[in-house]
Amino acid sequence: MTDVPEHIAIIMDGNGRWAKSRFLNKAAGHRAGAQALRRLAVEAEKIGVKILTVYAFSTENWRRPKDEVDTLMDLIHDYIQQYIDDSKKNDMRIRMIGDLSRLSAELRRKIDDLLEMTKDKKGMSVVIALNYGGRDDIVRAARKLAADVKGGRKTLNEVDEKLFASYLDTADMPDPDLLIRTSGEMRISNFLLWQTAYTEIYYCDKLWPDFTIKDLEKAIGQYQQRNRRYGGRNE
Ligand code: FPP
Repeated sequence: MTDVPEHIAIIMDGNGRWAKSRFLNKAAGHRAGAQALRRLAVEAEKIGVKILTVYAFSTENWRRPKDEVDTLMDLIHDYIQQYIDDSKKNDMRIRMIGDLSRLSAELRRKIDDLLEMTKDKKGMSVVIALNYGGRDDIVRAARKLAADVKGGRKTLNEVDEKLFASYLDTADMPDPDLLIRTSGEMRISNFLLWQTAYTEIYYCDKLWPDFTIKDLEKAIGQYQQRNRRYGGRNE
């Protein structure tokens, strides 16, 4: 495939409805969702995607019933372990965005292992957004920047968009070219708010566990027909 977007972000929505339609519990839906992601990442890398950022757990997801939150955290823990095993066989780099300080010490240790193991990999980066909120990302960046100004390490005159972006969790990544949301919902839901300023958005009705490489190719096909102007004119 040519002209493949370098950075694709995905809001993996619809696990609950997928499970319900099969008379399964929510955990089964999230498990199927996590498997769909593992499969898709391998295929996405093959067609030339460089960065795949996925919304695994938002700052708002803590409001779900405790047993669902626990299930999701257990699942994420298991999948981190699987990614550790996979990393011996593939060249993917795993990165995390979000405020990891609220996660259990055990999960954070696992994450650190995974980040360490894949940090020099040269393949596609899979960026997992965990306890991530776009507003929270901006507020944490503002705090760090304010502390640097207060401490004399930065001056107010230096503060511009480029400098501010370097304080975000996504500091050294390009902004997403394409954002996909599954399951028919049409919202950003506090995902990469700063970073999606000029991102093309693609919505589809498929529930996340059913989303395959064919669907990704369809999304990319639509993306390729769009005319990105970044507020300017392409005449
Ligand atoms: C939205 O579906 C999905 C989530 C809140 C969680 C997504 C997480 C995964 C797919 C697991 C990922 C695992 C790793 C390791 C990255 P929903 O439950 O809101 O669906 P519904 O709207 O149909 O109820």
